[in-house]
Amino acid sequence: MVWSPDTSTELYGIIGHPVAHSLSPAMHNRAFRFSNINAVYLAFDVVDLASAMGGVRSLGIKGLSVTIPHKESIMPFLDEIDSMASRIGAVNTVVNKGNKLVGFNTDWLGAVRALEEVTDLRGKNILVLGAGGSARAVCVGLRDRGASVHVANRTVEKARVLAQLCDGAYSGLDELDDVSNWAEILVNTTSVGMLPDGDRSLVPEALLSRFKVVMDLVYSPIETKLLVDAKNHGCKVISGLKMLLYQAISQFELWTGQSAPVQEMEKVLLDAMT
Ligand code: ATR
Repeated sequence: MVWSPDTSTELYGIIGHPVAHSLSPAMHNRAFRFSNINAVYLAFDVVDLASAMGGVRSLGIKGLSVTIPHKESIMPFLDEIDSMASRIGAVNTVVNKGNKLVGFNTDWLGAVRALEEVTDLRGKNILVLGAGGSARAVCVGLRDRGASVHVANRTVEKARVLAQLCDGAYSGLDELDDVSNWAEILVNTTSVGMLPDGDRSLVPEALLSRFKVVMDLVYSPIETKLLVDAKNHGCKVISGLKMLLYQAISQFELWTGQSAPVQEMEKVLLDAMT
């Protein structure tokens, strides 16, 4: 039978500004249909966050994805915040539990799950490039899994602050040669290599053979210059699309309490990117 919304249909959505290019509506609606869940997921371009959060409560919206610029500013509007989201200082997922709004962060879970598909993390030495919002989620997640982190960032002061949060070390980008001898896993969280600058990478090719696993959070292109170079030097590589996929899978699981249809959701991403 073809699904159509009725009076019991539950509403989910993404709030951000802008949201026009988000792949989340396509991914989550496909997951709801595939799993026979009577719910729909829409994109809301929100500037006035206070009014929007009033609407979430009064309309009984069941769950939200939260994206830029609201991941931090949404926190005061919530009734409870999960401990990892508090540590990271950002919420990308809201679950409405009987009109109590609870904030979570699934970005760290997305990164950790993508990495754990190919490697154990406990006791591993990991070099993280960048110290912005994505890096915070990645570094706190890696620390939670028992890895040691070195944060290298263009602005050294930001690397220092993030290193303190995850009990790690830090440097500028000029010390990659030394740090590459220590780390076996490399994660790029900066936007360097993203289209239209697809020919850029922060890591000199000569250093790449020292790593076993290289992950890039950039997913446009799916295979960045960093990943192409890393593959050529024998590393296992992980595309940013995997983190995008797994953070959405964790959201679906938090909202529904069910396992997500991983392959269906991945197909949506691949169709959109190719
Ligand atoms: P996100 O939420 O995606 O992490 P962000 O918080 O704006 O975005 O962080 C962007 C990261 O990419 C920062 O670490 C930034 O370095 P600075 O802290 O020095 O700004 C890094 N970055 C962006 N463009 C860069 C470039 N051209 N070279 C090196 N690092 C860059």
